[in-house]
Amino acid sequence: MRRAATILGPTLALAACSPQQSVLHPTGAEAGQISTLFWVMTGGGAVIFALVLLLAALAIFGSVGFRRRLAGEGVVKWLGIALPVTVLTVLLVYGFLILRAGGAVGGGEPTMRIAISGEQWWWRVTYQLPDGQRIESANEIHLPVGETVALELTTADVIHSFWAPRLAGKLDMIPGRTNVLTVTATEPGITRGQCAEYCGGAHAFMSFHVVAHEKEDFSAWLEAEAEPAQDPVNERGLNGQRLFSANGCGGCHSVRGTGADGTIGPDLTHVGGRHSLAAATLPNSAEAIARFIVNNQHIKPENRMPEYATFSETELADLALYLEGLR
Ligand code: CUA
Repeated sequence: MRRAATILGPTLALAACSPQQSVLHPTGAEAGQISTLFWVMTGGGAVIFALVLLLAALAIFGSVGFRRRLAGEGVVKWLGIALPVTVLTVLLVYGFLILRAGGAVGGGEPTMRIAISGEQWWWRVTYQLPDGQRIESANEIHLPVGETVALELTTADVIHSFWAPRLAGKLDMIPGRTNVLTVTATEPGITRGQCAEYCGGAHAFMSFHVVAHEKEDFSAWLEAEAEPAQDPVNERGLNGQRLFSANGCGGCHSVRGTGADGTIGPDLTHVGGRHSLAAATLPNSAEAIARFIVNNQHIKPENRMPEYATFSETELADLALYLEGLR
């Protein structure tokens, strides 16, 4: 019992204090509808539950005459068949109407497309600029508030499910298919999402952040994101860059503007500017980067990156400093 309390207590407290991933705190038009639907269904269910309790009480404690009437055929016909059929039909039609079977809620055609590929166990995010240029990033989805955006969901391996609860409903990522989720952020801020389909060992560590910006801020962010990587600003950063290159990190990771052009792992061009590391598993800091390089199989078991335990303490710190500086 005490153990249940130790687990349940903090969990409930967390659920109450951290609406970062709560379906009941929508920051997107689509999630807003789901939230409305939830409250209408819950309210309707509560009314019916109260009615059933009342009838049960009357059946037990009511007068003999009333109980005899309750046992009649009319009650079965009207309360047992007609009422449920009517209520369920109304709720079904209401549900279809409010969710519009997954169509755009924000109105109009999407003004922007973002390709998101689920990979064990991270998210490859590619922004397509109006001039056709494609900018790759990872584990963070930036959106302009008020714009309808089409998220083109694919997978590179197994089935994943894209779920940003405060933005919209879930949509699976199925091998060989492109599923399109249309979203409209309604307020700026950072929220969290999570892979919602078991996809192997580190499934629980396959999360991401959604960052919604006001339109001007979004344009500025996208412009900065399109820039190549910043050069290291000091000798330690330069040493980190040398180590990155000498140890073959560029075989898996890209850092645009340098020789590193690997495509197996996440693009690191602006990794230092993201809100988290390793698909929202760690906070973003030089210390966390260093920890992930040497100890990633412990932090995120079975992930595809080997642990690099060969660096000296200074080398590791320089390498982490270089990566953290990629803003
Ligand atoms: Cu990807 Cu679960």
